[in-house]
Amino acid sequence: MPGKIGIIGSGLIGRNWSMIFASQAYDVYLYDVVPDAVDKALVLLKNQLETFQNSGTLRGTLNAAEQFAHIHKTTNLKEAVNGAVHIQECVFENLELKQKLFFEIDGLECTSKEVVLCSSTSCFLPSLIAEKMVKHRTQLIVGHPINPPYFVPLVEIVPSPWTEPAVLDRTRQLLTSVGQKPVVLKREIEGFIVNRIQYAILNECYRLIEGGIISVTDADTVMSEGLGMRYAFMGPWQTAHLNAAGMAEYFEKYSKGIYDVSTTMGPTPKMEGPTAKLIADELTKKIPIDKLEERRKWRDQRLIALSQLKKKME
Ligand SMILES: NC(=O)c1ccc[n+]([C@@H]2O[C@H](COP(=O)([O-])OP(=O)(O)OC[C@H]3O[C@@H](n4cnc5c(N)ncnc54)[C@H](O)[C@@H]3O)[C@@H](O)[C@H]2O)c1
Repeated sequence: MPGKIGIIGSGLIGRNWSMIFASQAYDVYLYDVVPDAVDKALVLLKNQLETFQNSGTLRGTLNAAEQFAHIHKTTNLKEAVNGAVHIQECVFENLELKQKLFFEIDGLECTSKEVVLCSSTSCFLPSLIAEKMVKHRTQLIVGHPINPPYFVPLVEIVPSPWTEPAVLDRTRQLLTSVGQKPVVLKREIEGFIVNRIQYAILNECYRLIEGGIISVTDADTVMSEGLGMRYAFMGPWQTAHLNAAGMAEYFEKYSKGIYDVSTTMGPTPKMEGPTAKLIADELTKKIPIDKLEERRKWRDQRLIALSQLKKKME
């Protein structure tokens, strides 16, 4: 049942979360330490919701104006927290700042024993974020989204060693009910899952470029025109299952080959020096720094189209 959601930080990720929750009629209280920032965010949110409505990509059944009416400005942390069922923290990626903010929330009288305290952090372990908390540390969890979360539904839910199992369940249920696709880690680990897999790919692409085997452009093409095409619809395990007479046969046929090739992969690269420069130069030549914003829009348009296609095919 819709209720109140507190969003702390009105930047890119805070705005995305606001739209996601408002799309399902949650009352969103958007707070930022910079009061002007919320005013600016509200203008952007109104425009964005209207743009999505006009392009047929608006989530939920309410229209853009109805959804916008569910997003409220607050310049007061207490007001954002009081009575909320879920707090989504979206402030700068700075551990001390996040620790300070959750310490403050921990000390507020209005912070209930039921509210889920969820950080959007891309890399800090929840045990570090909750380190200074006394009363509510069992309610803290990480909910790491992928940009832009309005169109990329995955959220990694990461517990600290103190997180109560019920908090994991409530977060999974809530995020599923607003259309996200949460995956739950059984315990915290550096890099969570998305970054660990991303780093494995970056490491091997780096080694292949450093070894003179492939160009930067061709390494990107391998993902965008090959592996990525499948991965947009199924993961590596299901891909393998379909590539043989089932997963057991895949292991029988390919385990040794995978192991042998993997032993030729070499140590973890440091990603500095001439190869790093070569990769950076080639990408900058292709997409100059002043064209990055334009290219991000290009990326987001394609992600929107892909997300529409996936919904249609479901
Ligand atoms: N941008 C991404 O691609 C992405 C993806 C996944 C996760 N994240 C994570 O989400 C979080 C937010 O990222 P973003 O890109 O939206 O950042 P952003 O820089 O766009 O916005 C951060 C906002 O937090 C506000 N803020 C700072 N201190 C505050 C405080 N004490 N109280 C309230 N508001 C405060 C700032 O004024 C700013 O509006 C970060 O932890 C980031 O790592 C970002």
